[in-house]
Amino acid sequence: MSEIEVPKGLNGVVVDETAVATTDDSGNLLYRGYRAVELAERVDAADVAYLIVNDRLPSDSERKEFAHRLKEHSGMDGKVSEVMKLLKEKDVMRNLRSIVSLYPYESKDDSDLLLEIAARFPRIISDTFRISRGQEPLEDVDASFSERLYYLFTGKKDAEKARYLNKLLILYMEHEFNASTFALRVTASTLADPVSSIVSALATLKGPLHGGANAEILDFFLGFKDEEEARNYVDEKVASKEKIMGFGHRVYKTRDPRAQFVKEEIRKMDKEAHIFKIAEAIENRMWEKKKVPANLDFYAAIYMHMLGIDQNLYTPLFASSRVFGWIAHYNEQLEGNKIIRPSSRYVGKTGREL
Ligand code: COA
Repeated sequence: MSEIEVPKGLNGVVVDETAVATTDDSGNLLYRGYRAVELAERVDAADVAYLIVNDRLPSDSERKEFAHRLKEHSGMDGKVSEVMKLLKEKDVMRNLRSIVSLYPYESKDDSDLLLEIAARFPRIISDTFRISRGQEPLEDVDASFSERLYYLFTGKKDAEKARYLNKLLILYMEHEFNASTFALRVTASTLADPVSSIVSALATLKGPLHGGANAEILDFFLGFKDEEEARNYVDEKVASKEKIMGFGHRVYKTRDPRAQFVKEEIRKMDKEAHIFKIAEAIENRMWEKKKVPANLDFYAAIYMHMLGIDQNLYTPLFASSRVFGWIAHYNEQLEGNKIIRPSSRYVGKTGREL
């Protein structure tokens, strides 16, 4: 078999088919054929999760059944809570990855198990975040997907902020062959189990070039006194050829539609906010200097900050939403499975004698 050389990082390489999501010729992200930003504007996040997994929006009875299936796995195993106390680790993504790996799931069948894993994410995240900071876990609430998540992540009940969160959860839910989804598909392609596949995806999402980017943005951002200081920061980074988190994307080279949607939502929340003005100054300067657009994580970090969500929960929040995309890709990978195993061009030594 002749070998094909592809660009580093598989940039621009189509490795398989998917019917879950794509970006159309006008740069719109589509989930199962619907524009993601339109779903974010008009649909409940749980319905979009259903759509991504099942390829259709739910009927009333399917919506109830789906909510019931998520809710029946909302509790926390007592022994796992004890493990959380032993972890002594404040990195929520690291804890989430470990707990998802060891959790004693109840479901026997793969399809139930995948949904059970997704259903357990919000509570695992909330409990490990609070326990690692010496706080008591919250009592769970009976509320919509976004309201419950908002409560578990902030300890507050706020229907308006939960509505804003709903939109972000939808925009984070799926993005075809991104790094974490591809990692999941590689693991699934070996016929490893759903838990192992999702743990691969979680481990990959954690990196700052992928999902971890949203957790790094406020670190440089909140210190700027004014727009001039922010622009100077961009100039310095560009001059020293360093990357700025929250900019650039493998797919969106001129405009990330999700970032622009979230930016408009921030404008609705408070267009006079200091942080918003700084963000626009950075975005404009980056475009002027490098022609690199702001990605979803850039505006999502500001959005979550304005919603009162702790920075340590940004990437875990991304995970609680993207897990539904992972489920769809797990199923799709197994439908026409072929093990993903590329080759490499050897550049090491040969012929060494012992
Ligand atoms: N800051 C400054 N310049 C950036 C940049 C950033 N965040 N992202 C890309 N660029 C520049 C690169 O320096 C390169 O410029 P050059 O051609 O002058 O060398 C060009 O844009 C292409 O970037 P490249 O890193 O090759 O693109 P990629 O498709 O391989 O990588 C990312 C995509 C997302 C990994 C990359 O943009 C990045 O590291 N971004 C920061 C992390 C981030 O926000 N991740 C979340 C993604 S949703």
